[in-house]
Amino acid sequence: MLHRVCASGEIPDDCWKVFAINSIEVLVGKRRGRLFACNNSCPHRGASLAKGDFNGDNIVCHMHGYEYNVFTGRLENMKSWKKEATWVEQSPEWRKSGDLVLYRVVEKDGAVYVDLPQ
Ligand code: FES
Repeated sequence: MLHRVCASGEIPDDCWKVFAINSIEVLVGKRRGRLFACNNSCPHRGASLAKGDFNGDNIVCHMHGYEYNVFTGRLENMKSWKKEATWVEQSPEWRKSGDLVLYRVVEKDGAVYVDLPQ
């Protein structure tokens, strides 16, 4: 089901905003002129992705530095754990992460819509 989130001009290039739709936090952004939408919860440990940054087409989680491609959803990079002197080694199980949960995003009639399952 399509949900209107904002007017087209409200999301400038290389920016994002978070919208609550049916109690789901949806991050809607634009990278290199292309819109994307994903769940704002990091697939690793649930941090808010909105606090992160872009690295190319990846969104970088502020919590542990995992990077997910905003167009494919794929986990592209994990932090190089051993480089930080302060880092406490975690188990391989703890490091595991799924991919980003993406939503279809549509721009029409001057507005941006996100497609969420019913
Ligand atoms: S919670 Fe996002 S990288 Fe760990």
